Amino acid sequence: MADSFSVLQQFRLDGESAIVTGAGKGLGRVAALALAEAGAKVAVLDLDSETAEATAKDINDAGGEARAWTCDVGDEGQVDSVFDEVAKALGGIDILVNNAGTARREAAEDLPTETWDLLLRVNQSSVFYCSRAASRHMLKNGHGSIINVASIMGATGGGYHPNLAYHATKGAVVNMTRSLAAEWGRRGIRVNAIAPTYTETDLTIPLQENKQVRAYLEERTPMGRFAQAEEMAGAFLYLASPASSAVTGILLPVDCGWLAI
Ligand SMILES: NC(=O)c1ccc[n+]([C@@H]2O[C@H](COP(=O)([O-])OP(=O)(O)OC[C@H]3O[C@@H](n4cnc5c(N)ncnc54)[C@H](O)[C@@H]3O)[C@@H](O)[C@H]2O)c1
Repeated sequence: MADSFSVLQQFRLDGESAIVTGAGKGLGRVAALALAEAGAKVAVLDLDSETAEATAKDINDAGGEARAWTCDVGDEGQVDSVFDEVAKALGGIDILVNNAGTARREAAEDLPTETWDLLLRVNQSSVFYCSRAASRHMLKNGHGSIINVASIMGATGGGYHPNLAYHATKGAVVNMTRSLAAEWGRRGIRVNAIAPTYTETDLTIPLQENKQVRAYLEERTPMGRFAQAEEMAGAFLYLASPASSAVTGILLPVDCGWLAI
C-alpha cells in the first residue's frame, strides 16, 4: 500500500461536477448537500425552481458551490438541453444522482393508464434520459459515477399498500443499473443504485400519518423504524466517490434491515 494512502481522501470530490435530480427536497437535497460538502460543484435540478434555488443557496451559504436549474427529468428535450448547459457551466459532468421520483398509491384494478404512464416517465424513463445525457460527457473523459435511487420496492413486490406502478419502475431501475454498469464498465463509468427503506420525507407523509400503516411497516422492519433522509448521505458519497472505485452494478440497501427478512 502506498505511504500516501488515505481512506478519508478517497471520499473527497474536489474538482468533480455533479448533477442531482429532484434535489429541491428530501433525499435529493441530502445528496446535493453531501456531495457539495465533499468538494463537488453541484447542479441542483428540480421541477420546482423555488426549492432548487433554496438547496443551491444553502450549499453556497455553507461555502460550497452550487447552481439551480429547473428541469422535468421526464422530458428528454429538457434533460438534453439542461445537461449541456450544466456541463458548460460546471466544466463537465462526473457524477449523476438519478433521484427524482414520485409515487401514486392506487389499487391496480383502478389504476388509470395516465398514472401508469406518469410513473414510467418520471421514475424510469428519466433514468434513461439523464444517464444517456450524462454519458455523452462522461464517456468523453472516460470517467463517471451514476447513482440511481431505486427502493426496497425495486427488490420486492410490496404488498403493504397498493403501489404497482412504483414497484414496476423501481424494479426496472435496479436492472437498468446492472445493464448500464455492464455496458459502460470498461469505459470508465460506474453505475450503482441505492435501495432506501421507508424514509421520513414528503413522499411518505400519507404513510406516516396513517397510524395503522405506520405501525405495520415499523413492525415489518428489523430496526423497527423509518429512516431519516440524512441517513442516505453516506451511501450517496460512498458510491459517488473513489471510495467505491471497484464497485459497479450493485443495489446498496439503506433499509434498516428491510431486505434482510
Ligand atoms: N421517501 C422514501 O421512503 C423513499 C424510499 C425509497 C425510495 N425513495 C425514492 O427516493 C427518491 C426521492 O424521494 P423523496 O422521498 O425525497 O421524495 P420527495 O417527494 O420528498 O422529493 C422528490 C423531489 O423530486 C422532485 N421531482 C418530482 N418529479 C420530478 C420531475 N419530473 N423532474 C424533476 N424533479 C422532480 C420534486 O419536486 C421533489 O423536490 C424517489 O426516487 C423515491 O422514489 C424514497
